[in-house]
Amino acid sequence: MLLNEKTALITGAATGIGEAVARLFASEGARVFLLDRDAARNRSVAESIRSAGGWAQDFAGDVRRAAEIAPAVASAIEQFGQIAILINNAGIYPRQPFLGMAEEQWDEMQAVNLKSMFHCLQAALPHMVARRSGKVVNISSVTFHLGMGNMTHYVTSKGGVIGLTRSLAREMGEHNIHINCITPGAIKTESEARFVTDEQARQFMSSQSLQRRLLPLDVARVCLFLSSELSDGMTGQCLNVDGGWVMY
Ligand SMILES: NC(=O)c1ccc[n+]([C@@H]2O[C@H](COP(=O)([O-])OP(=O)(O)OC[C@H]3O[C@@H](n4cnc5c(N)ncnc54)[C@H](O)[C@@H]3O)[C@@H](O)[C@H]2O)c1
Repeated sequence: MLLNEKTALITGAATGIGEAVARLFASEGARVFLLDRDAARNRSVAESIRSAGGWAQDFAGDVRRAAEIAPAVASAIEQFGQIAILINNAGIYPRQPFLGMAEEQWDEMQAVNLKSMFHCLQAALPHMVARRSGKVVNISSVTFHLGMGNMTHYVTSKGGVIGLTRSLAREMGEHNIHINCITPGAIKTESEARFVTDEQARQFMSSQSLQRRLLPLDVARVCLFLSSELSDGMTGQCLNVDGGWVMY
């Protein structure tokens, strides 16, 4: 198993990509700490992982608030003395034309998608530095490479995630901490279905090289690679998991 006895904190673990990461990591031997503001769904994911024989603990919390992240980190340290992996995944992606955008909508997007990572990293990194070991995966979006109308607040936040990844990777390299980033393309999740019509999904697919809808597991597998020793020679990188949509 690739993550045997490693502790992983996963944000936004109650659904979609975060849930797939939690399930895959637990099946690879990790002890997964699930943080999500949807307490009921988060709990049911943790229960389902445990009933499949994995180790999981759920925490209800809003990643915009440091005080609501702290209990999950403290619990991992208390029980296992380590946070080996941090998956910064929680995010939102409502559409909004720029000219009608309220300042609160802009701020909310930056707070959930970007500043949340500041809070989670501030909580987890000191423990990684102390052990001279750590893997961080930040979830950005391929929309940063493409640009996307009606999503300027979202695309801006996801560009910030790439900047955060690159700068922090430079700063944390001397502590043997790996900080990488994934830019998912169009991933078939419940939330995506709320914003994307079937026709739009077909258009996205026609832009891909691979002619199938990508699933949360496709992203989770690359998170696994970036969280395991298989990627020990990489930091500050950004991997597109988009079925061959953009190619950099
Ligand atoms: N689905 C896609 O096509 C796609 C594409 C590119 C990037 N992404 C990114 O991947 C990540 C996950 O997307 P998804 O499609 O799985 O979304 P999702 O809505 O299925 O899951 C997101 C989870 O984050 C949680 N969450 C949201 N705000 C939170 C907060 N303030 N505090 C704690 N938890 C919070 C939600 O409750 C939810 O469980 C996001 O960062 C998203 O921007 C998704």
